[in-house]
Amino acid sequence: MQLAPGQENWTHHPAETLPEIEGNSLRQAVTVLVNSSPVGVFILGTDERVEWYAGHPDPQAMTLNALCLDQSCQGRGVGTQVMNALPTYVAMNYPQVKRVLLCVHQTNEAAIHVYKKTGWTVLRERQGKRGMLWVMERKL
Ligand SMILES: CC(C)(COP(=O)(O)OP(=O)(O)OC[C@H]1O[C@@H](n2cnc3c(N)ncnc32)[C@H](O)[C@@H]1OP(=O)(O)O)[C@@H](O)C(=O)NCCC(=O)NCCS
Repeated sequence: MQLAPGQENWTHHPAETLPEIEGNSLRQAVTVLVNSSPVGVFILGTDERVEWYAGHPDPQAMTLNALCLDQSCQGRGVGTQVMNALPTYVAMNYPQVKRVLLCVHQTNEAAIHVYKKTGWTVLRERQGKRGMLWVMERKL
């Protein structure tokens, strides 16, 4: 998995995140396939991150983080398709969940564009380790 220069400031590489979630039943890695080949990944979680993102505990919320697509696959509509498929995937696998939350760097204009056009709205602003973030919400 290869990111474009600078994109490591916006997301986490799977080599970093996948070992962290091994054996953690509250976090699940979802692989993005194109023609049966893995081209990307993201992580869904129902752990303490929900409170950090939402500002309060919410058993009906989950988080999406560490979304990344291989550089060769970016800008071809795959991210938009993933975001459009997400509500059905979450409803099937996490029936208790009524909303998904994510954080995006305010400078990550392409990602913000994709989220907004697939039904995400800005919930609030947070200071991240590497800059200001929008916390965004996708209601199911
Ligand atoms: C963000 C990411 C998941 C989006 O997936 P993608 O497959 O590249 O996105 P798509 O091809 O579906 O759509 C990209 C959209 O952004 C638009 N775009 C590209 N650069 C842009 C910019 N600088 N400003 C605004 N919009 C931009 C494109 O025009 C396109 O919109 P359109 O289809 O309405 O024309 C992917 O690029 C990625 O993995 N990036 C690196 C890691 C990252 O930033 N992850 C997000 C962490 S929150």
